[in-house]
Amino acid sequence: MIFISGATGQLGTAVINALLERGTPAAQIVAGSRKPEAAAAFATRGIQVRTADYADPASLVAAYQGIEVLYLVSGDAPIEIRSAQHRNAIAAAVKAGVKRVVYTSFVDTAEDSPFGFARIHADTERALAKSGLETTILRHGVYADILPAFVNGFAERGAIASPNAQGKAAFIARADLAAAAAVVLSAREHAGKTYTLTGPSALNMAGIAALLAARSGKPVAYQVMPAADYAAMLVQATGMPDWLAEALAGMFVAMDRGGYDNQSGDFARLLGRDALPVEAVLAEQLGL
Ligand SMILES: NC(=O)c1ccc[n+]([C@@H]2O[C@H](COP(=O)([O-])OP(=O)(O)OC[C@H]3O[C@@H](n4cnc5c(N)ncnc54)[C@H](OP(=O)(O)O)[C@@H]3O)[C@@H](O)[C@H]2O)c1
Repeated sequence: MIFISGATGQLGTAVINALLERGTPAAQIVAGSRKPEAAAAFATRGIQVRTADYADPASLVAAYQGIEVLYLVSGDAPIEIRSAQHRNAIAAAVKAGVKRVVYTSFVDTAEDSPFGFARIHADTERALAKSGLETTILRHGVYADILPAFVNGFAERGAIASPNAQGKAAFIARADLAAAAAVVLSAREHAGKTYTLTGPSALNMAGIAALLAARSGKPVAYQVMPAADYAAMLVQATGMPDWLAEALAGMFVAMDRGGYDNQSGDFARLLGRDALPVEAVLAEQLGL
């Protein structure tokens, strides 16, 4: 049986749908969530729903019973808490006799990255390597689907801003990451492998501004903003916590180090097609 963590989340839901589309029987899928009531729709489709909270080791050991492959979705807590939660999940997988863990890592796992969440992925990859479990690491590129949140109001303001100067990212849509996950979850030959899942083209944020201008027919300037100012602006505009705003601002700085423009080709090798280019995802999301 395959356990999908974060099953009510955007990625987890897409992975379950991708597994079903590939012909995985519903009875072979277990949907994990902290709020099983929010996952009730899966039960009506013949998918077992189990309560699993990365912060509650006992819930994880119980949830992972009889599971062969665990899709471990990165959580959403601050750095140290989330790293500890992922280690809870790995320890519980060992206790419960899980054979393989497929982990949603990130294209950036550098300990010294300006993107603080890179340390979570480095820590989790290390914990998996030490665990004795079979593992498949999926190093995700930046989701193309999160870009609209960063360019909100571009047409009215005639500009977008971020701390990114020049460095590009090979953005990839969640739907493509889910399709790749379904392939990897379905076959043991992917044990011991690390795949870098990125889109077929890369843009920096100035390129995103140019794309928005071309598609909307309106001028969209691009401004490089100091990371601290940008984080403060995110907090003010969205009410997100400081630690999250600082991490997101750091991600745009980290793009300038070059590693996010990693067009590895792994996605095309796994799926036999290219991922959707960021241009197409953004245009569809924004109706341009
Ligand atoms: N590569 C990127 O650009 C990028 C962008 C955004 C996020 N991410 C990462 O990718 C993950 C999935 O993205 P998404 O868009 O699907 O996010 P999402 O819609 O916010 O879903 C996050 C999921 O994480 C699960 N989760 C959080 N804390 C948990 C805990 N303590 N125990 C068990 N499950 C927990 C939640 O499960 P329940 O609420 O059902 O319990 C939820 O389903 C995010 O959590 C984040 O780490 C990556």
